[in-house]
Amino acid sequence: PVQHTPDGAVLVRAVPEDVQADRERLYQEGPVVRVELPGGVRAWATTHHEVSRATLNDPRFVKSVAHWADFQSGAVTAEWPLMGTIPTDDTNMLALDGAPHRRMRRLIASPFSARRVERLRPRIEALTSKALDALEERAGERLDLRSEFTFKVPMAVIGELYGVAEEEYTNLGEMYAKLFSGTTEEGEHLQIYATLFQFFAEMTARKRAAVDEHDDFTADLLRAGEGEDDALSDTEIAVTLLTVVAAGHETTVNLLNNVVRALLAHPGQLDRLRRGEVTWDAVVEETLRYDPPNNVMMFRFATEDVEIGGETIRKGEALMTHYGAATRDRQEFGEEPHPSVFDPDRTQGRHISFGYGPHICPGAPLSRLEAGIILPMLFERFPDLRLAVPDEELEVVAALSVTSLREFPVVLRP
Ligand code: HEM
Repeated sequence: PVQHTPDGAVLVRAVPEDVQADRERLYQEGPVVRVELPGGVRAWATTHHEVSRATLNDPRFVKSVAHWADFQSGAVTAEWPLMGTIPTDDTNMLALDGAPHRRMRRLIASPFSARRVERLRPRIEALTSKALDALEERAGERLDLRSEFTFKVPMAVIGELYGVAEEEYTNLGEMYAKLFSGTTEEGEHLQIYATLFQFFAEMTARKRAAVDEHDDFTADLLRAGEGEDDALSDTEIAVTLLTVVAAGHETTVNLLNNVVRALLAHPGQLDRLRRGEVTWDAVVEETLRYDPPNNVMMFRFATEDVEIGGETIRKGEALMTHYGAATRDRQEFGEEPHPSVFDPDRTQGRHISFGYGPHICPGAPLSRLEAGIILPMLFERFPDLRLAVPDEELEVVAALSVTSLREFPVVLRP
């Protein structure tokens, strides 16, 4: 059951015992739920579909922490571990609102376009092939699919996108995983953020000095808005590079893991995939709904009192979108098949797992491209891939942003 504080707020943990059950419970409590987060921080959560869409697209809810009363008063400080999931600097598009946000989105649109990312297809195929080759020798042993494969390939793809060698990324992935875990030591995320910023600032400066020699995402950003006197500054570029890994890596890792997990738990669907009765696209989209990688998106802040879903959110209060709970919405997805069921043939409803409104994910074409290449290649190479432990034993390390598995033990070949 849901646990409440004495004054009726729902206690939300960084790591729930059962993520899927937690989603259903929060949906039941919805549409708008008063919550208490780790560290005693108070907020609201939207846990139904329509109210989530409405608030994501409502200019009275903004991303700038300048509007968060508890942060401005010092009741919540930068040291709060979950601040790792809340951008505070005004060069980060995730923290921008209104016209400055629209400017950033316009400048990054072309580098992120489906056409631009499609050019990565042959490289993604080659990187996947290489990663699969590296697993051949140990295919008969228990191994961690997350650290050995689903983590590595998207990181290599980002390396490709940025035009930097894979070696440079060795620690980066781990730093990000920590940043988003919500389980770091007090203040540790501040140190990590500084290190990451330094890394990307140096990279930007290096490429700025020889921009004509590069034809990658960083160079695209350096050229964005040239000619119209509105170019991105080096700081904006460094923060964008940092944000893209932050927003795009762990999410994609989890999309891959979640699809593999759903298919192994539903072998009938895997057979149908092989017989061509269901498409990979349908399986990926249903996984995005059934098990959204971005379980919770932290905080928008009310710029005035807003009445919504039977509650009044006061000016200065924080609101999070519980994407995970909203996927259980009967009104959007119907009663049959029940929203808690993984069913790639589902026709009713449209997930918002890539967000909605002005901050909708610009990386969706890239993650769909990656999933559509990497997953079929994995199952083609290792058709007998299976879990090495029962599904119930898979452990999630955090759920207040991206629901990452600690480990994904599998055997690739019996
Ligand atoms: C924003 C989900 C992959 C880059 C978002 C948002 C969501 C999301 C829900 C909206 C955040 C908000 O409302 O404040 C996902 C999921 C992914 C994924 C589920 C993978 C399955 C990627 C990739 C990239 C990326 C691959 C980059 C290459 C971004 C950026 C933003 C964003 C930069 C911020 C946009 C803004 O604030 O205007 N993503 N994302 N994402 N995503 Fe993704």
